[in-house]
Amino acid sequence: MKEKIAIYPGTFDPITNGHISIIKRGLEIFDKLIVAILINKRKRPLFSVEERLYMIKEATKDLKNVEVDSFEGLLVDYAVKKGAKAIIRGLRATLDFEFEFQMALMNRKLNSSIQSVFLMTDYKWLYVSSSIIKEVASFGGDIRGLVPEIVYKKLKEKFGY
Ligand code: PNS
Repeated sequence: MKEKIAIYPGTFDPITNGHISIIKRGLEIFDKLIVAILINKRKRPLFSVEERLYMIKEATKDLKNVEVDSFEGLLVDYAVKKGAKAIIRGLRATLDFEFEFQMALMNRKLNSSIQSVFLMTDYKWLYVSSSIIKEVASFGGDIRGLVPEIVYKKLKEKFGY
């Protein structure tokens, strides 16, 4: 039988435990998960693509069947290139819904053979986002336990606390 591959795309600036929870859930359904960082020239991320790739690789090194990659251009084109039939996105609360709905419908318009699959994050991470993590870390707040250990270390280096 053909391997079922899904793409888990995002900015991952940086990856949080909420993302890790979605990756683990995705692996319960798919044979292989490709965590893919969008190279977005319009955004000014805190971490470079290389740093983000490194952190995700470190944070997922004990998980089987995870590939970490980056991409440019349309997500559906990247999915086709990688032989993936599905895109995974995490949902926290209604907050995420409108944007995700818009994106899923646009992706379906662009390529109707790629399915969007939404996974619910663990309640423990409902309030965790990369932006709030960066904000708290920038003021020296304690974010340990909300992000993988490697991310905690890198944030500490960046903000010098
Ligand atoms: O982590 P994010 O920032 O919410 O991820 C957004 C992402 C990367 C999934 C989305 O911006 C994306 O897929 N961009 C690639 C360009 C594209 O395909 N756009 C059309 C669908 S919205």
